[in-house]
Order: sequence, then C-alpha cells, then structure tokens
Amino acid sequence: MIAIVDFGSQYTQLIARRVREAHVYCEVVPYWTKPDELSKYKGIILSGSPRSVLGESSPMPDSSIYYLGKPVLGLCYGMQAMAHQLGGAVEKGKSGEYGRAEAKLDRNSVLFQGTKEVGTVWMSHGDHVIKAPKDFEVIASSGSCAVAAISNASKNFYGLQFHPEVKHTEDGALIIENFLFKICGEEPSWKMSSFAEEQIEAIKKTVGDDHVIAGVSGGVDSVVTAVLLHKAIGKQLHVIFVDHGLLREGEREEVIFTLTNLGLDPILVGCEDIFLDALKGVTEPEQKRTIIGRLFIEEFEKACKTIPGVKWLAQGTLYPDVIESSGGVSGLADKIKSHHNVGGLPESMNLKLIEPMRMLFKDEVRHLGRELGVPKHLTDRQPFPGPGLAIRLVGEVTRQRLDILRKADEIVREEIAGDADQYFAVLLPVSSVGVQGDERSYNCVCAVRAVSTTDFMTASWTKLPYEVLDRIATRITGEVKQIGRVVFDITNKPPATIEWE
Ligand code: XMP
Repeated sequence: MIAIVDFGSQYTQLIARRVREAHVYCEVVPYWTKPDELSKYKGIILSGSPRSVLGESSPMPDSSIYYLGKPVLGLCYGMQAMAHQLGGAVEKGKSGEYGRAEAKLDRNSVLFQGTKEVGTVWMSHGDHVIKAPKDFEVIASSGSCAVAAISNASKNFYGLQFHPEVKHTEDGALIIENFLFKICGEEPSWKMSSFAEEQIEAIKKTVGDDHVIAGVSGGVDSVVTAVLLHKAIGKQLHVIFVDHGLLREGEREEVIFTLTNLGLDPILVGCEDIFLDALKGVTEPEQKRTIIGRLFIEEFEKACKTIPGVKWLAQGTLYPDVIESSGGVSGLADKIKSHHNVGGLPESMNLKLIEPMRMLFKDEVRHLGRELGVPKHLTDRQPFPGPGLAIRLVGEVTRQRLDILRKADEIVREEIAGDADQYFAVLLPVSSVGVQGDERSYNCVCAVRAVSTTDFMTASWTKLPYEVLDRIATRITGEVKQIGRVVFDITNKPPATIEWE
C-alpha cells in the first residue's frame, strides 16, 4: 500500500489513478498525517501544490518522515519540500514553466530504467530546486530547469520537477512503475475480485445483524453499492427506488427489471404527481433543482419509515467525492467543481453511513460491477443527473412536455448508441415555423447534445457523422409530431456545461 501525501495539487487524484492502474493499492492522506501512521505504507509519494515552499505558512510534511526508512517520491512541490527540508535550495521562479518540455534522463537511475534518454515531460511549476541536498544527485535536466530530478539512491529518496502522472509525460507510467516495483518493492496485486471479497467481509462485520437501506437511482454507483451490500447481508438490505417521474423512456421498468434479476427486490416509490405539482410554473433552473432535491429526500425518508429497525444508510460515494469534498483531503485545493448530488439526508434520521466504494474511482466501480455480475448495459451506462429530465426541459416541467422530450431523447439514444460519452435531447421553450405537407406548422424546437469526455469536468462536442445527425433530425421531426425543428449543440465545456440547466 502506497500513501499519497496531499498538498492540494490538482493532480493528486491523477497520481492515485496511475498507482491503481499499476495494480497497487494507494490512499490519499492529508499533509499533516503523522509519521507513525505513514509507517504502515510501503512507500510515500509527496504531491504537488498550488502553494510555494518559500511561502510563510506553506504546508510541509513532518520532517521525521525521512527517518522512517521508507522510499519517498516528491513530485513538483513535493520535490521542492523534500529539497527544502533536507538542506537543498529552492528558488522562486520568475515566470514559472508550464507545458511540454524535453528532459534528459539519467537512465542509470532505477527510477528511469527503460525510459528514453531524452523524453517529453509535463512541467507545471513556479519555483524550482537550484541545489540538490547533500548526498543527492541530479538525475534529469531540461532546457530551462537544470535540476529536473534528484535522487539519494541509498535512502530511496527521489524527486521530480515534472509530472509523471500526466499523460503528456512520455514515460510517466513507467517512471511510476519503477518507483512502485523497483524502489518500494510493491507487487501488482490490487485486484477488483479481492477488493469485493474484502469489502463483503468488512460490511458483514460492520453491520452485524442490523438492517440497512440504500437508495438506487439506476445509475452505476448506487446499483453497484446495493449489489455489494446484498452479497454481504442479503435480506438485511432494503433497496428503495424513488421514481420522481423525471426519468427517461422505459427507465423505470428497466431499473426494476435489472434489480429484480440481481435478487434485490426493490421497493418502488412512485411519486410523479407530487413532483409535477411542486414544479408547476417553475422555470428557474436552480429553483427546479432545489425543489426536486427537497422532495426526493422527503419521499425517501417517508419510505424509510415504513421499514422498522433500520440503522444504516448505504451510499455510493466515490473516491473523487471524498478527495474533492471541501477542497481535497488537505482542504488546500482550489474548488473547481461544486457538487450536484441530490443533497444529504436530514441528520434527524439518525442513520449511520456506510460507503463501501469511497475508495474507488468511477472506472473501478464499473469493473467491480462486472465482477459482481451487474449487466454491462448498466455498468457502462452514461451518467444521468439526479434532477432527471427536469433540467433538460428548458422552461416549465409539464407532463405533456416530458412526454415529448422522452420520445425525442429515445431517438437520440438509439441513433448515437455509445458513440459519445454523454448524449441526450433537450426541449427548448421556443416554437418555430415550418411547413408540413402544404400547411404552415408552428412547433417546438429540440436540441441534441453529444459530448466526448473522460471526467465530465471538461468536454468537447462530439463530431458525429452527418448521416447520424441527419437520421436523428428526420426521425424526430417524423416521429414526434410536436417537434418541428432540431438543432445540434456545438459548444464545448467550458464555456457551456454539459446539461443545459
Ligand atoms: P455539467 O452540466 O455540470 O454536468 O457540465 C457534468 C456532469 O454531471 C451531471 N450532472 C448532474 N448529476 N445531479 C447529478 O447527479 C445533478 O444535479 C447534475 N447536474 C449535472 C451531468 O449529467 C454531467 O454528466
């Protein structure tokens, strides 16, 4: 197990991803973690940071970590912190260095075994090390950075000014693997099947004879959480599916069918009328979200009260949420994304939380889902927002407009079928003139959104083939008689968000 000590870098999560991709389990810990606690790890990686080690209240690791006898790899700020604490010198950068650079790597160093001698690396730093600490040698340099990497091989201390975790660093994955396998002596043994077994045992132990409730939306996180719990505690798990009436065509049936097949026996709470009544006349997006969030909690809470003796609430919280909440584990990261999820449940419910996937990334959850027998169409499903179609109906949410949007959206989904990472229809509060037969028509306008993305934090519009776009427009205007015009959204995120509201 490897510790990633976080100083608030935007890349901390990425470092964890790369280590896990090398099949080594790792945890992100705050920079103030005590050396005692760090001693249980086989190696320590010090992350980057938006701060400067030369600043007055810069976050620093406890300097006794260098006496634990553990390998340490400092990345960017982490390298500067190590150099600063061990007697080297760090200089304030004048303009900093951002982007690709060519670095000459000393391949005699274990860290660079098998890499190219001169390779592209990704730099992103203000300050830099100008003198390595005593007993360290310089093992890489680039045009504008004479000390691009340092090492004290006898103590297993290494520092890189560049970011091996970023894909633009040509041999980045290999450098990380060298650290993990050749320097820390790790084995590539982190496997999803063993994770599932461990978690099932841990859940049994934690929960004992208690009963647990889990809300499922049909999204991959909530379903995999429920399946994992079901494997651990069987009938002590109660699964609640709140249908707010803002789901896509066929979705309610599909979710119930899949959950039932998985042996989950979901309790269906159908409350379309309650949601539609509350949304009557509301057009402001934030207001829609607030109403839906509040009602969702109310309905979920009501359903929970019908199950006696429940002590636990299971949630599909993932590692990025854990790392990102309140600005990273160290609270230092600049907040880039605000949380969308349908708020927390009131504390008055007095339930203990169980979050078995809080150490996993999204693609690991998909993998775990497949291990647990969740069908592929569910594990690979595109994300669908908690407020559902309400935020894809620009303007008022009515039953009639929902029906129109559902039909158009089904066509978009059928035609694009996996060729983008997220794709859907949006109904606009605009009517437009057309001609149908010999008659003038005046019908709704529908927008098609399709984006390519890996993290949903940035996205580019998907360059769908013209034939696909043509088919979508022809089918929608032919099969949904209330829609007279179809437009394609060609805006990237940023500046636009993926959803329209
Ligand atoms: P945006 O629109 O912010 O969306 O670019 C990024 C990703 O988040 C999804 N999304 C939501 N998911 N509740 C959710 O559970 C929400 O309120 C919500 N809003 C957006 C969106 O579908 C996209 O995948």
